[in-house]
Amino acid sequence: MDETLFYKWGGGIDPAFPEIVEAQDAYLVTADGDRLVDAAAGAAVANLGHSVPGVGSVAADQLSEVAYISTSHFAHEAPERLTDRLVEMTPDGLSAAFLVGSGSEANETAFKLARAYHHATGNPEKHAVIGRWQSYHGATLGALSASGNTSRRSLYSPQLNEWPHIPPAYPYRWPYEGSPQEQAIAAAGELETAILQVGPENVAAFVAEPVSGASIPAAHPDPAYYREIRRICDEYDVLFIADEVMTGFGRTGEPFAVDRYGVVPDMMSLGKGITAGYAPLAATMVSEGIARAFDADDGASFWHGHTFSANPVSSAIGCHVLEQYGPDVFETGRERGRALEAALEALVDHPMVGDFRRAGAMIGIEFVADRESKEPFDPSLSVGRRVYEEAMDRGVYTYPGSGSVDGHRGDHLMLAPPLTIGEEAIETIGRAVRESVEAVHHEVGGVVRADGG
Ligand SMILES: Cc1ncc(COP(=O)(O)O)c(C=O)c1O
Repeated sequence: MDETLFYKWGGGIDPAFPEIVEAQDAYLVTADGDRLVDAAAGAAVANLGHSVPGVGSVAADQLSEVAYISTSHFAHEAPERLTDRLVEMTPDGLSAAFLVGSGSEANETAFKLARAYHHATGNPEKHAVIGRWQSYHGATLGALSASGNTSRRSLYSPQLNEWPHIPPAYPYRWPYEGSPQEQAIAAAGELETAILQVGPENVAAFVAEPVSGASIPAAHPDPAYYREIRRICDEYDVLFIADEVMTGFGRTGEPFAVDRYGVVPDMMSLGKGITAGYAPLAATMVSEGIARAFDADDGASFWHGHTFSANPVSSAIGCHVLEQYGPDVFETGRERGRALEAALEALVDHPMVGDFRRAGAMIGIEFVADRESKEPFDPSLSVGRRVYEEAMDRGVYTYPGSGSVDGHRGDHLMLAPPLTIGEEAIETIGRAVRESVEAVHHEVGGVVRADGG
């Protein structure tokens, strides 16, 4: 039931969900008067907390000036200003933005652009998008086709494109031998194998979360991995799409996760932190080479868009939010990430914790029944979910997940609080999560299968 999000169908959203009536800084207040620490920034969205000043007046001004235009026929300064700022912030080499309304749309746009670009540049067969297992790129059918999140895919598999998937960038469970660099290069080599299997003439793009999000939170490889990915993509004329919907805007310690590796993608999908939750907005950043294929007088056309693409109100709010991001905020995020790790230090060697990983202000805690063999718990024990519930009882909202091992087995918890979270809230998270893991360990410790075997 936790993914049931219908309002007004059979009585509304899951009645067990607490109703939130107020949100301030890193705190959410429920209708029952409970004050929760938002240790997941919603869904890794509210990077700047829930009370950034000035958003209301920016929205009101834009609404009274120009609330909506159709981007099929008109231009407006707010989306232009937003695009300029995005181009300025993102890595050099990305020089244009296609503005949409959600992360899924940003990825759909990237996938269609990849096909349209190759078609326009003399490679009309290139169409497939290679993704990775244990990844998530969105809920729409194209985005889900590239995603490797088995549980979110399974019901819809007859409707999905049969695009290849390679193993995830998941050092904790890699089977490769050698130094971290050698393992990283071997893992990246899976892309070359997949391209050769499908035929380079058929492959348009490769999409990856540079630091994994909800499916294997905070998993990240040695930088050699992405350097090798870049090399392979260049060799086979495959566009590299970095899905930074969750990792963008300081989440992993750098402005963008690719900055950790010194690699520039051909396209970058942005969402979530782009407005930090103050309006629905997302963007597909594209390289100059791609933009030029469509911009020239005799260039190809890219017929694509949504009614709310480049929405003026979302764009104005986006501009205001982007002004808040700067070196200070990113440094604060790194420092708060380290403080949160310190508050959770007792878990690093906990018998139920197989892997404790951090990238900036994103932490992934992977639970195992046996640390030595890395054996996960029986999925029916719902270990991640139980830790989540225990933490909620202690006033802390976290982001649980499962399926990290093979899409079915594997439990984890993601922590991704606002980058600006205060010390007191960090202490509360630390205490609540430590106690919650301890409580669940007490119930299921040493139990691998639900029948106790
Ligand atoms: C990495 C990543 N890509 C894409 C999406 C989809 O974004 P949206 O839910 O805004 O469509 C998500 C959402 O969680 C995500 O984490």
